[in-house]
Amino acid sequence: MQKDSELSGCKITAEFSTRRLRLRAWRDADFLPFAAMNADPRVMQFFPQTLNAEQSDAMATKIQQHIRQHGWGFWAIELPQVDDFIGFVGLDHPQHILPFSPCTEIGWRLAARHWGQGYASEAAAEVLRLAFQVLRLKEVVSFTSVLNLRSQAVMQRIGMQHRGEFFPHPGVPEESALRAHILYRISQSEWVKTSTSD
Ligand SMILES: CC(C)(COP(=O)(O)OP(=O)(O)OC[C@H]1O[C@@H](n2cnc3c(N)ncnc32)[C@H](O)[C@@H]1OP(=O)(O)O)[C@@H](O)C(=O)NCCC(=O)NCCS
Repeated sequence: MQKDSELSGCKITAEFSTRRLRLRAWRDADFLPFAAMNADPRVMQFFPQTLNAEQSDAMATKIQQHIRQHGWGFWAIELPQVDDFIGFVGLDHPQHILPFSPCTEIGWRLAARHWGQGYASEAAAEVLRLAFQVLRLKEVVSFTSVLNLRSQAVMQRIGMQHRGEFFPHPGVPEESALRAHILYRISQSEWVKTSTSD
């Protein structure tokens, strides 16, 4: 099981690239396009509500500070020559105590105009490589509303497995249809197998 202390001593470079994307630390200029994303009902369809500018800025500040402090987190994604900020993909320790805590999650949120291009999966595959090769995590999890099939498709594309685990997310109101969550996992040894079989 992953412990916070396993990550606390790890500092990794906060910026790196994939074939089409740059993953980097957050700039203050990212806050405005992030607020526009968080106000978009398509992007927030599987969250209890959209965020107003103040809530969005608070989330961005938290993410920005986390990367400054640890060198890893929910990286800002840039599409070089096209768009300076299209969303985030990265790692986090969930703020709620969950049935499988402690854990490290991989998560993503992109502006809707950039869906359907494979960007989330491309960034997430590189984040998993960092998680296992650089941070040397034993396991990474991901979870979302059972209704969020687009997000589950990303989990499947990067080799994560769902083994029948579901849980009610404590941060979602009990009466909400979004409370039922599905859990995916990938261990370091599973990742080694999938990444060497490519
Ligand atoms: C979840 C989310 C990141 C998925 O984005 P996405 O663009 O669908 O996912 P991918 O990056 O894996 O792209 C896959 C799609 O790109 C297509 N694609 C096009 N060009 C591609 C390429 N060069 N390489 C790979 N895939 C490509 C794939 O065929 C697939 O299309 P499909 O949706 O018609 O099946 C996005 O829907 C989102 O930000 N949602 C809101 C936030 C959210 O719900 N986050 C998760 C909360 S837990």
